[in-house]
Amino acid sequence: MAFQIRTYNQIAPSGLQAFPQSLYQVAPDIASPDGILLRSANLHEVPLPETVQGVARAGAGVNNIPVTSLSERGVPVFNAPGANANAVKELVLAGMLLGFRHLKQALVFVDELDPSSPDFERAVEGGKKRFVGHELPGRRLGVVGLGAIGGQVANAARGLGMEVIGFDPGLTVEHAWRLSSDVRQAPNLEALLAESDVVSLHVPLIEATRGLINADRLRVMKDDALLLNFARDGLVDRAALLEVLGKGRLSVYVTDFPHPELQGVERVLSLPHLGASTVEAEANSAVMVVNNLRDFLENGNIRHS
Ligand code: MLT
Repeated sequence: MAFQIRTYNQIAPSGLQAFPQSLYQVAPDIASPDGILLRSANLHEVPLPETVQGVARAGAGVNNIPVTSLSERGVPVFNAPGANANAVKELVLAGMLLGFRHLKQALVFVDELDPSSPDFERAVEGGKKRFVGHELPGRRLGVVGLGAIGGQVANAARGLGMEVIGFDPGLTVEHAWRLSSDVRQAPNLEALLAESDVVSLHVPLIEATRGLINADRLRVMKDDALLLNFARDGLVDRAALLEVLGKGRLSVYVTDFPHPELQGVERVLSLPHLGASTVEAEANSAVMVVNNLRDFLENGNIRHS
């Protein structure tokens, strides 16, 4: 067998099938792998054998991988930029609707109704008055980070009639071209936060972005703003968030990073980390990184898309 690949996590079958069986042995228990294929496992905590030539992550973020020390060893890390962008975008749209239409409370309300009660219908009718929401058109969405995912969120929100402003000091020409022309660029993050009815985060977690949404930045946000974090947990300073929520500020915090400290906190809606969890996104991401890892191992090429 020419190449041995150690896998962590469940990888979409189409990704695994992209390794030709004649050339590759792919399994979780390979002792001296040429390549590593993973999704969410924390590679910071795992000693990587000297044999490893390339690491591939079936996802966008690489904060679970020791990229710097691998680079120093000359080991490239492949990720799947954009491969799950549509899936994350769809969850962000759902998150906005969860917040604006009080969907969680309404679902719980119906679940808790007594079906045998003679008052069932009257109670249902009461819910109609109790959960009056707001519509999206005319609301201003601030998108922090306009890469593959942020760009899709911005364009979709424009399509839904929202006004969209964005902030991304590292905006690439490629991503700028894909943006709807009426996505206005904010001069800085504070301006975006101060103007937005909804703020959605789409930046990677790196040292510069850890705690990006801190006490000062939460302070400039509108009192009734909706904050969506489907990017990375560490982007929001949790203590500062709990403080502003405790003061009755922010209408909702929606995230797919549950945390014990957020459990039961009013106006926090937590989902499992579901942004990229669709059959389509898992397959796209796995196939993309497997092809890139193969191209590197077999031909020495380094591709990232
Ligand atoms: C990503 O970085 O693309 C997501 O966090 C992927 C995942 O859920 O594994």
